[in-house]
Amino acid sequence: MRICCIGAGYVGGPTMTVIASKCPDIRIDVVDLNAERIAAWNSDNLPVFEPLLESLVKSVRGVNLFFSTDIDSAIDAADIVFISVNTPTKTYGYGAGSASDLRFVESCARKIAEVSKSDKIVVEKSTMPVRTADVLKAILSEGSVKFQVLSNPEFLAEGTAIENLENPDRILIGGDEDTESGRRAIGVLSDIYARWVPRERILTTNLWSSELSKLTANAFLAQRISSINAISALCEATGADVDQVAKAVGSDSRIGPKFLKSSIGYGGSCFQKDLLNLVYLCEHFNLPKVADYWRKVVEMNSYQKHRFSRLVIDSLFRNICGKRLAIFGFAFKENTNDTRESPAIDICKDFLSENAKLAFYDPKVSKRQILSDLGLSDGDSRVEFCDSPYKAAEGAHAIVLLTHWDEFKTLDYGKIKATMVRPSWIFDGRNCLDTRLLLELGYLVRGIGKGNLL
Ligand code: UDX
Ligand code: ADP
Repeated sequence: MRICCIGAGYVGGPTMTVIASKCPDIRIDVVDLNAERIAAWNSDNLPVFEPLLESLVKSVRGVNLFFSTDIDSAIDAADIVFISVNTPTKTYGYGAGSASDLRFVESCARKIAEVSKSDKIVVEKSTMPVRTADVLKAILSEGSVKFQVLSNPEFLAEGTAIENLENPDRILIGGDEDTESGRRAIGVLSDIYARWVPRERILTTNLWSSELSKLTANAFLAQRISSINAISALCEATGADVDQVAKAVGSDSRIGPKFLKSSIGYGGSCFQKDLLNLVYLCEHFNLPKVADYWRKVVEMNSYQKHRFSRLVIDSLFRNICGKRLAIFGFAFKENTNDTRESPAIDICKDFLSENAKLAFYDPKVSKRQILSDLGLSDGDSRVEFCDSPYKAAEGAHAIVLLTHWDEFKTLDYGKIKATMVRPSWIFDGRNCLDTRLLLELGYLVRGIGKGNLL
């Protein structure tokens, strides 16, 4: 059997690496239009940083996993084609700002239809709006080759992708349950996963349930974060501590303890995009109240990011003009080099609009990426890029911690303080530092939802 995966990104790359490692008899070709990205996958400097990924890639690359730009022949040779391309929020025309932009998916479908000479199973891996499979089917049904379309959304979280892929909570496969060929296709894909995932964790549904489940799962997760973030504002006003509240609330087995960590807001390529897409779908199906309900989750996230910038600016005597701020972390979460929708972007833009000077340190995000995210050119005197957090903090009025990297927890904050301007502030946007120790060292400290520090 041969698999082709179109799209060598944060989803396609790690997912295919794990499938290749679990199925040595299946040849997998991961293809992409982006030659630079493919070259990076074939080098020692992978384009995606994920714990455990590099060694796994090395164990299968060139054995049964291949990265290339030869899209046409990889598709034609495959029995199963995964579509794993980006589906960003539309920025133009009808549905701009909320609908998903399906032009990359559509061009994959057209390419598959154009080059395929044998029957294939086509799998939606990227998150798609409900009923996208209709679009694929319409394009693929034009010729004489027979295609079965499946929806198999990916639930991996960046930073823990390999763990999530090797030991998933569930695998979801949606297909045409009403036809023999549809059921056969679902069976073929299920059998691949069943090589390492217990059968009871492989859920099969119709296409629309599968597509909608993915959007709903992300919406629920984002909603949980917005809920605890909303409470964090109330904690600050009342003297409560949001971490204590989260623990008390999460101890109820009906609620559970996970995903209740208050923060500067969620980021990442999925939550905002999928929520907006859900809002768009609800409006499309004339469900304005449902659309409003989910839109509020996005609004709360935006409120949380700007509320944090305001906290920093107000604390520094409502004036950060010309002041150096050490920015600890830029990735949207720890253990990834991904900055898509990172809350750090909006927060740093707020600081730059107040003419602050920003000194960045992130262990995995490149200078080039940060400049591009902030719309700045190289050499801009308002920003500096440091190769250690100690350097970033030198001469700074404040440390602003935006990503929960483990290394920030164990720095020598006494040593750092000696090099900072006084009073020295720490704004812990992830509530991950030892506040008591920092206060003892003489820092002025602010966290999220920490009313007792005010
Ligand atoms: C998410 C979903 O978890 C995953 O199932 C889906 O496939 C893709 O979207 P990802 O965006 O990679 O994964 O990371 P996730 O761990 O969900 O974190 C998303 C954002 O929420 C990050 O910015 C993170 O810092 C933030 N977060 C997460 C919180 O602020 N608090 C929490 O308790 C958890
Ligand atoms: P994700 O997080 O969903 O994996 P990424 O943006 O990291 O998203 O990756 C998507 C990849 O899909 C990109 O590398 C992009 O170049 C690739 N891509 C988009 N459209 C096509 C296409 N029509 N053919 C091949 N690759 C494509």
